[in-house]
Amino acid sequence: MTPGLHGRAALVTGATRGIGAAVARQLADAGVRVCVTARDAAEVRRTAEQLGGIGLAGSVADPEHARAAVDLTLGEFGRIDILVNNAATNQPFGPLMEMDPQAWREAFTVNVEAPLRLVQAAWRGWMREHGGSVVNVCTEGAGHVGPNVGAYGTSKAALLHLTGQLAGELAPRVRVNAVSPGLVRTEMARFVWEKGPVDLPLGRIGEPEDIARAVVWLASDAAEWITGADLLVDGGTRVQAAHPGGYAVHDRLRSYAPPPHS
Ligand SMILES: NC(=O)c1ccc[n+]([C@@H]2O[C@H](COP(=O)([O-])OP(=O)(O)OC[C@H]3O[C@@H](n4cnc5c(N)ncnc54)[C@H](OP(=O)(O)O)[C@@H]3O)[C@@H](O)[C@H]2O)c1
Repeated sequence: MTPGLHGRAALVTGATRGIGAAVARQLADAGVRVCVTARDAAEVRRTAEQLGGIGLAGSVADPEHARAAVDLTLGEFGRIDILVNNAATNQPFGPLMEMDPQAWREAFTVNVEAPLRLVQAAWRGWMREHGGSVVNVCTEGAGHVGPNVGAYGTSKAALLHLTGQLAGELAPRVRVNAVSPGLVRTEMARFVWEKGPVDLPLGRIGEPEDIARAVVWLASDAAEWITGADLLVDGGTRVQAAHPGGYAVHDRLRSYAPPPHS
């Protein structure tokens, strides 16, 4: 059994599908009481029921929602030991010179500002006094540039920096770490992986459970001497250049024409 999970309470944002859902499931299976969020209220209800947990519908971009999600977790469970900042947007997609500044700001609101607001609320409500663990879901792509993903990559690089900054500011009470996934079979990345196989050193693209195991481990006391770390879980994407075979992901990002942003 992983130490420091059973009986604790967690808030996982963006947890009705994909990586967030796998994190919430693995936490619940380890005996953690879980609060999930997402924008689609029916999906939040369904997920919370399946987990035997609770949920709150709304966008993390809304400061009121972020505060309410922490308050709900504290109100229902009496504690909030673990915060997983997983909800994100990969919009706006395209060359930076064609980017609407308002849409660019939205990427930063969801991917950077919301995690900070959630950490602030969890710190003030519980973690400052009792301690805790934060895991921010970043991306392997934050370490380099790529076609059409300038807003996403820049905002995730900022989230990675925020992770280190918070880790320093909140130690020793609270540990703050990042997990940076490579290509994972979820809705967000469907436009990349559904076009055909991607050759990676470890032979396959990621499944949400691959990422969730790393998130849950970092959140647990098994990682009690780790803070400010960025755990790459990418099937070897970062070391692809030394591996025979090409890397199809950038070609697919280059050729993708996204539907109009809603
Ligand atoms: N998939 C990959 O290849 C990959 C690679 C690197 C990093 N990541 C990162 O992994 C994390 C999870 O992505 P995923 O691939 O699992 O995505 P996903 O399958 O599209 O799931 C996203 C989840 O977040 C929720 N969500 C989206 N926007 C939200 C918002 N503004 N407020 C609250 N909830 C929101 C979605 O539900 P609603 O739509 O109902 O809100 C859903 O539950 C993200 O941080 C992403 O950047 C993914």
